[in-house]
Amino acid sequence: MSDCLNIPCSYSKIEIGSLMESSLINFIDTHYKESRIIIIVDENTHDFCLEQLINVSSQFEAAEIILLPPGEENKVLEVCFQVWEAFSEYNFSRKDLVINLGGGVVTDMGGFIASLFKRGIDFIHIPTSLLGMVDASIGGKTGIDLGSYKNQLGTFIHPKAIYIDPSFLETLPAKEVIYGYAEMLKHALIRDVKHWEEIKFIKNDVDLTTPEILIKSIQIKASIIEEDPQEGGLRKILNFGHTIGHGIEGFFLQSTSLAHGHCVALGMCAEAFLSKEKGLLSQSEYMDIENCIRRSFHFISLDATEIEGIIELIQQDKKNSANAINCSLLQGIGNCIYDQKISNQEIGNALFHLNLLASSIN
Ligand SMILES: NC(=O)c1ccc[n+]([C@@H]2O[C@H](COP(=O)([O-])OP(=O)(O)OC[C@H]3O[C@@H](n4cnc5c(N)ncnc54)[C@H](O)[C@@H]3O)[C@@H](O)[C@H]2O)c1
Repeated sequence: MSDCLNIPCSYSKIEIGSLMESSLINFIDTHYKESRIIIIVDENTHDFCLEQLINVSSQFEAAEIILLPPGEENKVLEVCFQVWEAFSEYNFSRKDLVINLGGGVVTDMGGFIASLFKRGIDFIHIPTSLLGMVDASIGGKTGIDLGSYKNQLGTFIHPKAIYIDPSFLETLPAKEVIYGYAEMLKHALIRDVKHWEEIKFIKNDVDLTTPEILIKSIQIKASIIEEDPQEGGLRKILNFGHTIGHGIEGFFLQSTSLAHGHCVALGMCAEAFLSKEKGLLSQSEYMDIENCIRRSFHFISLDATEIEGIIELIQQDKKNSANAINCSLLQGIGNCIYDQKISNQEIGNALFHLNLLASSIN
């Protein structure tokens, strides 16, 4: 029996706790005894996390290691091609098992690669970044970017299991912890006002990685996925901050490349502003959110051309329907509503507001 905490989820086994104490080996022995194991890492998780996994069992010493270049700019089809070619050279079969060991880029792209090779190889996620632990590894969305369009190619395939060991966070740079904080704030804002009150003043990256806080955030995401695994309705609330956030991220992807968590934080501020402008959120609730985001995230200046470019990208967002831009907005803190139509003009106003904040703060 494992000493780790199991989070109820009918799509993937989710276990939190020390990998050494976890059911990982038992799970592999039960389901993948005859399989070859392929471990996908990026250069950083190769250096900082792989040894910890190999220490769990000598059977990982025989695994094939696939090394990806790190960063969002490498979450692209060209890298997938190279990995699929390597899979073919190694003659991997559908009975083999992929283990994705890394942040959201590795789990998104490793899941995508595994889900398509020979019509799908089973995979397990072992997230190593805070953002990966509380968000990216959970929910079965795999994907890669296409030019400036975020996650434009992807599949909905759940990992067979997700093993979350917070000790991996010991080597994660502090700024990456803060990017994970953005998605934790999102979970609180869309679903749990009490959790929002608990985490809104946290500034210290160490305090963000305590097991209780991680578990609460993971439970919020897992419970939403449980109710709506394929994003037919409710799951869309997880996109709060992402309509404008993905627009900003995609726009800068080919140049300065802003981190996903950073863009989500800016997107949440902009979409909370929109919620207030539409009379869904009170002025004081909006200020509570703006102040929280200002305490941890840097606001960027956006000129008129950049704002126009971001709006153009948002028009291509996957969440849109029949030429309308669909957004998830807050109807009070802890309550999110989805499929809210927003106009180009409204997005422009929210982006101008972000720009105003950048000039008044930075
Ligand atoms: N599938 C989903 O539901 C979902 C949800 C949210 C975000 N995402 C995706 O997740 C990605 C962002 O994830 P991220 O913030 O983890 O980025 P990331 O994977 O790029 O990781 C951030 C950096 O930290 C390094 N790193 C990771 N773990 C480490 C460790 N333990 N020690 C030292 N360095 C470590 C990585 O190599 C990288 O340089 C985006 O592509 C986003 O689109 C997906």
